Amino acid sequence: MSSLEHAMPDNAPAVLTNEQLKQYQQDGFLLLESWVPDDLRQQLIDRAYQLIEQADLTEHNRFSTTDRAQINNDFFLESAETIRCFFEEKAFDEAGELTQPRAQSINKIGHALHDLDDVYQAFARRPEFGALARDLGLRAPHLYQTMVIFKQPRIGGEVTWHQDATFFYTDPTSVITYWFALEDATLQNGCLWVEPGGHTGPLRERYFRDDRDLRMEPLDDTPWPDDTSGTPMPVKAGSLLVFHGHLPHYSAPNRSEKSRLALTFHVVDGQITYAPENWLQRPTLGTFSL
Ligand code: FE2
Repeated sequence: MSSLEHAMPDNAPAVLTNEQLKQYQQDGFLLLESWVPDDLRQQLIDRAYQLIEQADLTEHNRFSTTDRAQINNDFFLESAETIRCFFEEKAFDEAGELTQPRAQSINKIGHALHDLDDVYQAFARRPEFGALARDLGLRAPHLYQTMVIFKQPRIGGEVTWHQDATFFYTDPTSVITYWFALEDATLQNGCLWVEPGGHTGPLRERYFRDDRDLRMEPLDDTPWPDDTSGTPMPVKAGSLLVFHGHLPHYSAPNRSEKSRLALTFHVVDGQITYAPENWLQRPTLGTFSL
């Protein structure tokens, strides 16, 4: 299956240059620097920490990025249409107590910030984000999911190699990820790694939902990239890394003293059927057009 099935637009791009479009088609990703003004970036960060302080923290919401079987399915599934905080795996000691303050113990906040939180909603409505998706070939860009990912100092976990179309399946593939650096992302604090050109490869796995059950199914045994075929993408705060749903990507654990906050959007073409087997469904909120 071609991974560029969503056709590039006939008209001149609105926010990208033709060179940038070509780069995206070739590499499967594009780095857009200074796409989040500093004042907005600070608002998004401050609001994320407020949400953590307000959250009802129970021990049922630890999030594992390496063993999805640990996820409490209901807590996770319900987060599709609300705002929930997920703990880092290593945030607890053997007695089950937090080993550091709650603000430094959260893995991520998701997944409907753009629907339910004023600050994130206003940010998502900025017109350049819809224009960007249209430039990249989505006819009706719909924002399905927002996440604030913390990658905490010392305990921030690895996210293993994957493709985002695994979780946002459409046929043809249409999902595009926006990855906003809310803080500098470096080799030390766990920046993203990508495989340039890897978006032309097949989708390797698909994540299925069957009522309340979740399972990962292999589709193709093409090997994942590694340290030699992957490329690290250290980026400055305020940058936007946008990438194709088949692009393999990964991030290392954060063993540094600095956090690495990122905000992600997953944008799908509303003119293509969104698979009812995808874990994230929005029966109540509907979809959010960019
Ligand atoms: Fe991802």
